[in-house]
Amino acid sequence: MSKKIFLSGIQPSGRPHIGNYFGAMKQFVELQQEYAGFVIIVDYHALHSLRDAKEMRENIIAVLLDFLAIGLDPKKVTIFKQSDISEHTELTWIFDTITTMPYLMRAHAFKDALAKDKEIDVGTFNYPVLMAADILLYSPDLVPVGADQKQHVEICRDIAMKFNNVYGETFKLPEPMIMKDVAVVPGTDGRKMSKSYNNTIPLFAEYEEIKKAVMSIVTDSVGGFPKNVYAIHKLIRPEGELKKIYEEKAGKYKELKEMLIEDLERFIVPLREKRKAFEKDIPKALAILKAGGEKAKKIAAAKMAEVREKVGVNVY
Ligand code: TYM
Repeated sequence: MSKKIFLSGIQPSGRPHIGNYFGAMKQFVELQQEYAGFVIIVDYHALHSLRDAKEMRENIIAVLLDFLAIGLDPKKVTIFKQSDISEHTELTWIFDTITTMPYLMRAHAFKDALAKDKEIDVGTFNYPVLMAADILLYSPDLVPVGADQKQHVEICRDIAMKFNNVYGETFKLPEPMIMKDVAVVPGTDGRKMSKSYNNTIPLFAEYEEIKKAVMSIVTDSVGGFPKNVYAIHKLIRPEGELKKIYEEKAGKYKELKEMLIEDLERFIVPLREKRKAFEKDIPKALAILKAGGEKAKKIAAAKMAEVREKVGVNVY
């Protein structure tokens, strides 16, 4: 019997942070034991915020090295980049023709941009449709993501249902997988950890960076309990242990932060070391990405042939 499939993606829009890791990437490593995986570096998605070719290239390679360093096994997980598979943008167009504007106007990301009076490009508006194509081309069972992507997976399911209703059963409906405890990893200011809020702890941070980030954690507290420090600490130390320590050291923010720095360093060191080893052979890492793209292409092309047949454009 063939294995079940998981699929997910990450934008090469900067360095992954521990929110990306605990919210999503860690699940990829765990799921690869039982599932066949597809993990996509979604470079076309990142274009809406990144318009610097050099930085884009560097980020794509950086995310690839990150994936290898956290332990994704290319034999179990197909790692590829979105722009290698033209079927993603092709299918997006077909989905565009069955998706209404009022429906997409309900998307959180669009509503947020509108509320902030930002100039909204069509790519940002269309973002969830491209994400639906990313997912549906590979018929995954599970899509492991953080809570901020829940609505996008729901939109993906709606688009699949709409297509199936109009053209006949074609796409499998995927399930989102959102880990309750890490659905929203908070940043150093207590809001969701996010590159755009500048409140991140990079996953492969050097010691000094960890220190600087932790020292900047906002210590709003009740009864000497710094909840923002604790919220990050509990990602890497069992709560049973932590609760006692935080009770004993109530109000001693500096000490608690120092402990968090040491714990983060202990957690990050092996990841950082592994990443440095992969950095030494970038051509080898790129070969993995390219081979992943070739494998993904075959699957995407087969699905797209089915879609062309369903919509009636295959006349030869
Ligand atoms: P992106 O690149 O913003 O984030 C990658 C993954 O990290 C999760 N995440 C978090 N989880 C918990 N707490 C946080 N503070 C936190 N910040 C980020 C995100 O939920 C995500 O799972 N649209 C997607 C990329 C994408 C995708 C896909 C995902 C494109 N196509 C297909 C799955 C399937 C995004 O922007 O993720």
